[in-house]
Amino acid sequence: MAFRPVRLDDARDLARCLLEDKPNRWRHTVAVARRAEELAATIGDDDPRVLLAAAWLHDIGYADEAQDTGFHPLDGARYLDRRRWPARINALVAHHSGARFLAAERGLAGALAAYRLEQTPLSDALTYADQTVGPDGRRMTVHERMAEVLTRRGPDSPHTRAHHRRRPELLAVAARVTGRLARTASP
Ligand SMILES: [Fe+2]
Repeated sequence: MAFRPVRLDDARDLARCLLEDKPNRWRHTVAVARRAEELAATIGDDDPRVLLAAAWLHDIGYADEAQDTGFHPLDGARYLDRRRWPARINALVAHHSGARFLAAERGLAGALAAYRLEQTPLSDALTYADQTVGPDGRRMTVHERMAEVLTRRGPDSPHTRAHHRRRPELLAVAARVTGRLARTASP
């Protein structure tokens, strides 16, 4: 099966095309891509184009055209699969920001497991970028972001039900990324 090469312009253009009619979602996406650019120094010799492409594409599952199950990480990954995007990027989109904990609450763990769970400095950087940008593109801390999500989604949401399992993962990611940032900043 032929896959597309990673082209950042294509990733940004696809995200814009799919999300531009949702202004807050698009502002969030732009800010996450900018944040990911800043975090590229934390991924060692891994490919920053993969990080940035995944950042542009991570929320396309919210687009009307991509929606299927209603679970945006999975819908986004499946949309990219259909368009032959590289399997690594699709899997990063599927699993960003601790999606597996939310999938379990939605009965979609099996479907999500079709995508390889990557746990690397690059996947950490993607999640940390998403978790330090609010839904309207404003920068925030991981703690502020978790609180914002619980308020916005409500007490009966999968986010709230999964929070006790997802929170330690998001905090561990934040600790690893801030540690790597500190090491890249020190001489
Ligand atoms: Fe996001």
